[in-house]
Amino acid sequence: MSNYESITVENRGSIAVLTINRPDKLNALNRSVHAEGVAALDDLRADDSVRVLIITGAGPKSFIAGADIGEFEGQTPVTQRDLFHERTFFNTIDTFPKPVIAMINGFCLGGGNELALACDIRICSENARFSQPEINLGIMPGGGGTQRLTRLIGEGRAMELILSGDMIDAETAHRFGLVNHVFPADELEAKTMEFATKIAEKAPIALQLCKEAVKFASRSNLDEGLRREVDLFAICFSTEDKQEGVTAFLEKRKPAFKGK
Ligand code: COA
Repeated sequence: MSNYESITVENRGSIAVLTINRPDKLNALNRSVHAEGVAALDDLRADDSVRVLIITGAGPKSFIAGADIGEFEGQTPVTQRDLFHERTFFNTIDTFPKPVIAMINGFCLGGGNELALACDIRICSENARFSQPEINLGIMPGGGGTQRLTRLIGEGRAMELILSGDMIDAETAHRFGLVNHVFPADELEAKTMEFATKIAEKAPIALQLCKEAVKFASRSNLDEGLRREVDLFAICFSTEDKQEGVTAFLEKRKPAFKGK
């Protein structure tokens, strides 16, 4: 277990769990979380033993209750633009080469929801609550909320959440397609680990290319997307894991992928 000031990172076999660790502030995102999050992702990216990353919040009540409002005092347009410009925690998650699962255990608000949106899969507990409440502070989402939320759940629903600041429950988030699965709170960790373990057994290079192709779909037109897909598909045929996958199928055994 590596310890930072505001996060923890724990390796559980091929799965790493990054926990935002400020439960007394409902895991609100301060500058320390952003900086440590980027540093931890750099380490995890380079660690070949890690195949899947889970991001969660400490304690039973909250995933992340948004930006640390206490830090808003004294910020300027320049400092705020720097926080979300280019190499942010959220963008580093978005471009992380391995699958990232948000394990959402309670409040998932503002920047917390934006962080979850930067992940590939969102799994939540029945007590999870979601909102983009920035409008109640006289501001707007600045970490991808207007862009990633709209792409994921559509303009009408995104607009309603962003304009109203209303909180929705887990069932509604599931219906909107904001989360992939909802589980009772006491099953959330086990079910998420089960899902992560299944993904961690797949071929790492193919996983990375799948991510890149799917993410490209909402950033390009169909022709560009189809061209990118076939290029990435072709790269799979250069890997040892493709040979292992095909051979294992023909030999009627489970493949052992190496990420090569
Ligand atoms: N920034 C800084 N501190 C926060 C925070 C945030 N986003 N969200 C919660 N906290 C702090 C509270 O100030 C409180 O600290 P204190 O004990 O030192 O007073 C602690 O976390 C517990 O929160 P509290 O408000 O007492 O819990 P609650 O169960 O009554 O309410 C919320 C929970 C999530 C509804 C409420 O905390 C809230 O509205 N938070 C702000 C959410 C938000 O607007 N986020 C987007 C920011 S852009």
